[in-house]
Amino acid sequence: MNRVKIGELKFNEPCTIKGWLEKIRDSKYMMFLVVKDITGKIQVTIEKEKMPKLVEKLKGVIANSVVSVQGTALKSEYVKMGGMEFIPTDIEVLSVAEALPIMDDANIDNKLDYRWIDLRSDRNILIFKIQSCFTNAMREFLVKNDFTEIHTPKLIGAASESGADVFEVKYFDKKAYLAQSPQFYKQMAMAAGFERIFESGPVFRAEQSFTNRHSTEFSGFDLEFSYIDSVEDVMSLEEDLLIYALQKTKEQYGEVVKEVFGTEIIVPTKPFPRMKLCDVYKEIVKYGYVETEEDKLDLSTEAEKLVYKLAKDKFNHEFMFITDYPKDKRAFYHMRKNGIPQGYDLIWRGVEITTGAQREHRYEYLKQQADEKGLGEDVKFYLEFFKYGCPPHGGFGLGLDRITMLLLNIPTIKEVEFLFRGPNRITP
Ligand code: 4AD
Ligand code: MG
Repeated sequence: MNRVKIGELKFNEPCTIKGWLEKIRDSKYMMFLVVKDITGKIQVTIEKEKMPKLVEKLKGVIANSVVSVQGTALKSEYVKMGGMEFIPTDIEVLSVAEALPIMDDANIDNKLDYRWIDLRSDRNILIFKIQSCFTNAMREFLVKNDFTEIHTPKLIGAASESGADVFEVKYFDKKAYLAQSPQFYKQMAMAAGFERIFESGPVFRAEQSFTNRHSTEFSGFDLEFSYIDSVEDVMSLEEDLLIYALQKTKEQYGEVVKEVFGTEIIVPTKPFPRMKLCDVYKEIVKYGYVETEEDKLDLSTEAEKLVYKLAKDKFNHEFMFITDYPKDKRAFYHMRKNGIPQGYDLIWRGVEITTGAQREHRYEYLKQQADEKGLGEDVKFYLEFFKYGCPPHGGFGLGLDRITMLLLNIPTIKEVEFLFRGPNRITP
């Protein structure tokens, strides 16, 4: 008999269901099982006297075992679960579970040791369904707008971008590195005439960071497109992309997100507010923030958090673009106008989710900016991309894990990565 998904069961039609034994309740005359698959759960009701064979088969079987149950779904006013119960004719235990090594209230690090069990909960599976919905929506938007999805190599021959934060790997008798961004290759696609591309893939960072929003491998969503007039075009596309993806996710999961994660999906309005870095500090000192010398160059973690408050207070918005960072802290490939890098960070709910920019596409300027940062040999292959004609272009990189975490108001990135990777964790 064919398997019917529990969420699609019809009354009075004999069939087979397969799934996890979520619960077993055994009393004198009756046995109640809750069987769950990815689409739902149902109570399986066994009258012990009538079904001695089934009772025998279930001897010693505990929750989390996997079963196949033949029978029929019937209407039942006593059962809460959709007013439906399943009356079995036969049962097969497909996999016997041992007692679980972790409890629901274990701390996240213990849970990660047994992530495959931790992930089984409805809530955790939901995180990934929502993330999948969000990325699909972004993909849909980009494909509609003539973007081509590409896949660039993650094994690279020279340390990318700055040389810092890169994992080195043995590559036969040579050294190779794990890509810390698809940056150089998405720009290569511009030099190759692709005009509009995006990529979703792993990003590696050899950073000893122990914050709630850093991991050593995360999922990046990057795009790059040609013939822009300024960085404004890049920000505008990111606005449209996020509005589209948040709208779609809200339509599909808005209610459930409220119910399970206690938070609202807010679809932002365009334009998102924009502020220069120096103006941000002028505003947040009013909140009692004490500015340091370092702050002239970048946004501190504390300042990032206050940007959320500022965005809400001043603009009634959840997002804020920060522009006009000084060149010392920005990548050499950002185009500069009057010495100011034409790039931005996008802060959502107090966390950086994106860095983007108009790129320098003119070889001479680019080479000079690379030399100024002392990058010479490492970026030589990259500079070649700009020697034989390259349109003006720009793009950005989104951190998918961070977006998921912020979207669902989950306190740490460890909970939203399928398998977290950090300085102290590369297993399971
Ligand atoms: O800001 P990042 O480092 O920018 C780049 O990689 C550029 N090449 C992008 C560009 O097109 N200009 O990384 C992009 C995003 C960040 O804004 C953040 O959301 C996320 O990736 N991110 C991390 N997420 C988790 N763990 C980490 N260690 C992360 N580092 C960056
Ligand atoms: Mg950044």
